Amino acid sequence: MPARTFKNLQETEKWAKDLASQFKRPGVVLLEGDLGAGKTQLARWFVEALGGGTAAHSPTFAIHQVYASKGGDIDHLDLYRLEDFQDLESTGFWDLLKQDQALLFVEWASRLPDHVWPKNWAVVKIEILKGAGTEERQVSVAGSF
Ligand SMILES: Nc1ncnc2c1ncn2[C@@H]1O[C@H](COP(=O)(O)OP(=O)(O)OP(=O)(O)O)[C@@H](O)[C@H]1O
Ligand SMILES: [Mg+2]
Repeated sequence: MPARTFKNLQETEKWAKDLASQFKRPGVVLLEGDLGAGKTQLARWFVEALGGGTAAHSPTFAIHQVYASKGGDIDHLDLYRLEDFQDLESTGFWDLLKQDQALLFVEWASRLPDHVWPKNWAVVKIEILKGAGTEERQVSVAGSF
């Protein structure tokens, strides 16, 4: 998909909520973007659109949060604070990936080498362009989903 620009939260939310229904299980969606770009906000909209509730707050301390939805669990991982593979073991990461109906949204996936992602994966990128308004964002989607 070519990059698109949205002027405000409402426009971005509408796009995100439409996109959410296209993610397939099992699947992994890597959320890319700088600090504060809106990765957690996107995860929150995706989870909400999929009926997983509205409580997907930024997992500041917890690396992993899980939301129950009609289509199955939705896992949200924020690897920002990941120090080593030991930390990953303690989140049950490998079991999350092994679920046949997995749907994982992952922030800071660049903390891990690419080869750990065994399933269909997509990348959703969100960026704040230089000189843009506070709620303006550029988004793009790539990969298989
Ligand atoms: N168009 C928009 N799309 C997404 N978020 C937006 C938009 N406009 C404003 N925001 C705000 O920008 C902030 C983005 O914060 P968020 O925690 O989602 O960033 P993040 O990329 O997850 O950061 P971190 O790298 O620290 O995890 C939120 O407060 C959100 O409401
Ligand atoms: Mg975040």
